[in-house]
Formats: sequence, structure tokens, C-alpha cells
Amino acid sequence: MGGAFLRGLVARDEFSLLVIEPRASPALKALARAGQIILNPDLAAMGLARLAVIAVKPQVLPEAIAPLRPLLSHMAVLSIAAGVRVKRLEDLCGTRRIIRAMPNLAVEIGMGISAAYAARGATRADVVLALSILRAGGKAEIVAREDLLDAVTAVSGSGPAYTFHLVEALAEAAQKEGLPPALARLLANETLAGAAGLLARSGDPAHLREQVTSPGGTTEAGLRVLMGRGGLTPLVRKTVAAARKRARDLGR
Ligand SMILES: NC(=O)c1ccc[n+]([C@@H]2O[C@H](COP(=O)([O-])OP(=O)(O)OC[C@H]3O[C@@H](n4cnc5c(N)ncnc54)[C@H](OP(=O)(O)O)[C@@H]3O)[C@@H](O)[C@H]2O)c1
Repeated sequence: MGGAFLRGLVARDEFSLLVIEPRASPALKALARAGQIILNPDLAAMGLARLAVIAVKPQVLPEAIAPLRPLLSHMAVLSIAAGVRVKRLEDLCGTRRIIRAMPNLAVEIGMGISAAYAARGATRADVVLALSILRAGGKAEIVAREDLLDAVTAVSGSGPAYTFHLVEALAEAAQKEGLPPALARLLANETLAGAAGLLARSGDPAHLREQVTSPGGTTEAGLRVLMGRGGLTPLVRKTVAAARKRARDLGR
């Protein structure tokens, strides 16, 4: 995840980027050789940074932060660690200038969506900078309360997996209708990719759905099942509620 944001930031060429990574990959070393990042700088150089992005797994966060604490206490911190609350980040980092964000998988291809919560101690400039960093991976928005990040986790954080499962179900149904497995998969995959492209252009799923649904036609017959009682909407509502509950429990 950190690497994906870093690639977006390198491409933007807008910031000086200092990267701390004890086991740097060949790709990271190549960026350092090309002068696009400074890899594992000494702590004095880091003291000049305005904001630190924390992108380690939640389990290793305390040990990763401990040596940096004297520096972090003088800068803003943007954490993408899932489930690590602002209060804990404030204690670990020694600063109240915290922004906590939840990105999603599509950051890998610059098409992610992140939502961020800015703690009271974060300045306006910190928030602008954090959003600008998150936008190196796609879109980014602010939520007004920290607990809303659990809902964001359940919707856009876990959402790519729900969507992949919908494609699996479509491919399976295609096979049931007699299509060969490889073609079934191709039809399902490309249907999602094409629909996602159209949605990215228009932003209005209901309008797109209506456009392809002629009265009395085949799509309408299918949608009558999908949108009927016990159809997709109540199922997705239950899915998101279960994920949100899990996100809340994990963050306790
Ligand atoms: N993946 C997602 O879709 C997603 C979505 C939302 C939020 N997140 C959050 O993003 C964070 C990163 O997740 P990920 O999936 O990208 O994990 P990851 O692939 O394991 O990346 C973590 C990186 O941190 C490095 N690291 C480990 N210890 C370190 C230390 N002491 N100092 C500096 N770097 C260190 C790791 O290096 P080594 O590999 O050498 O250990 C690795 O490159 C997590 O907190 C996760 O909750 C992920």
C-alpha cells in the first residue's frame, strides 16, 4: 500500500520523498539511485519533513514508530494502518497532528478511493497536504467523525472483494447456462471492467442501469430478481453491516 502511494507521488514529482524501509526492495533501491527518493535517511534529515506517512502493518506499528517518536512529535502524521485509532496514534507518535485514512486496493493502479479523518490537532495545512498525498493513489475525501472510518472500511475498503465475488457469481451462472468456463470468466470479468469504465465516466449508476434496461426486455427480467424482495440490496446492507461491526471490534 505504501509502495503504491509512493509510485503515485514519484510520478507527480511534487514533494521531496524520504522513505524508511529496513528491507528495501530492488525497485525502491532503483528509485533511490535515480535520485527520486532518499532511502533510509539519517534522522537529522528527517527532522525537516512536514508530514510522515505511516504504512506499516498495525502489529509492527509500535516498534516501527518508537525510534522516530522524537521527530514525529514535531510533524504531522498520516496513518493508513487499519483499525489503529487516533488516540493510540497520538500516544505512539507524541503529536496531536494526526490524520487517519482508509485507502483501498485500487490505489495500486491510481484508481483508489481513500477517506480520511483529521484529528482536532491537525492544522488546515496538514489536512491539505494529507489529501494531496492520498490523491496520488486516486480520489480522497474527508469524514467528519472517526467512527465513520469503520463504515468506510466496510464499504470501499472491503468493497473490491465484494465486487470480485459478484464477478465470480456471474461467471458461475454463465457456466450453468452452458458457456465454457474460460469464456464464462472472460464475459464476467470484462463486463465488470467495462461497466466500471462507464461508471467512472458518468458517476450515476441508476441512470446507466436505466439506459440499458428496455421495458419488457431481458435485462429487466434479470433485474426483477436481483432488485426484488430478498435481492441484492438487503444482502449488501447485511454484508456492509457485518464488515463495519468487525472493523469496530478490531479497532477496540
Ligand atoms: N492492503 C490493503 O488493501 C490495505 C487497505 C487499507 C489499509 N491498509 C493498511 O496499510 C498498511 C500496509 O498494508 P500492506 O498490505 O501494504 O502491508 P505490507 O505489504 O506488509 O507492507 C508493509 C510494509 O512495511 C514494511 N515494514 C515492516 N516493518 C517496518 C519498519 N519497522 N519500518 C519501516 N517499514 C517497515 C514492510 O517491509 P517487509 O515486507 O520487508 O516487512 C512492508 O514493505 C497496513 O497498516 C494496513 O492496515 C492496507
